Amino acid sequence: MIFTVAIDGPAAAGKGTISREVAARFGFAHLDTGLIYRATGRRVLAGEAPLAAAQALLPEDLRADGLRTPEVAQAASRVAAIPEVRAALVDFQRRFARRKGGAVLDGRDIGTVICPEAEVKLFVTASDAVRAERRWLEERAAGHDTPLEDVLAELRARDARDAARATAPMVAAPDALVLDTSAMTVPEAVAAAVAQIEQRLPAE
Ligand code: CDP
Repeated sequence: MIFTVAIDGPAAAGKGTISREVAARFGFAHLDTGLIYRATGRRVLAGEAPLAAAQALLPEDLRADGLRTPEVAQAASRVAAIPEVRAALVDFQRRFARRKGGAVLDGRDIGTVICPEAEVKLFVTASDAVRAERRWLEERAAGHDTPLEDVLAELRARDARDAARATAPMVAAPDALVLDTSAMTVPEAVAAAVAQIEQRLPAE
């Protein structure tokens, strides 16, 4: 079965949590496409040219430590605005999306550019304050004590860049379900995603 779930949305909206839970529940493969841009950004911070960094990516780059720092997030969003970098990363993501057995991809342009034919498209969002608090809690759990207002500023700067870029900007696909998780618990958000998928899964 070919079945793609595309989950897009701004930073720290809950895409990763929903994607992981949905993938586990349906036995689908999961690709966090943000990691691809983070790994590219990390290579650029280490001195590589952006396109060369994207072309040189190895599977183990996505498993490296330190991809979740605010510096790497900003570097990711800068390289992600370069059309040649995005073009170099498209084929891998498309193949993943249409692999047999079902796939969940989360990112910014999955439902619009990578897999416009996705069977389910969600655009997961939440208020700036809620997203900043969630990311702040994650960072604190990882041992970083960044002030909440700095976390908020980092998210806003990235969202503005991601939404304004000319190539594959962050935007909800016209046929995406917009899920505002500001006032939702994780189980509620997952249940909303599961309901969408169950409606569209082929009958056995
Ligand atoms: O985890 P968070 O939502 O903060 O970010 P992420 O999904 O790891 O993405 C990091 C950055 O990669 C984003 O700010 C985007 O600039 C870029 N990105 C993108 O352009 N396209 C994607 N499909 C995924 C991420």
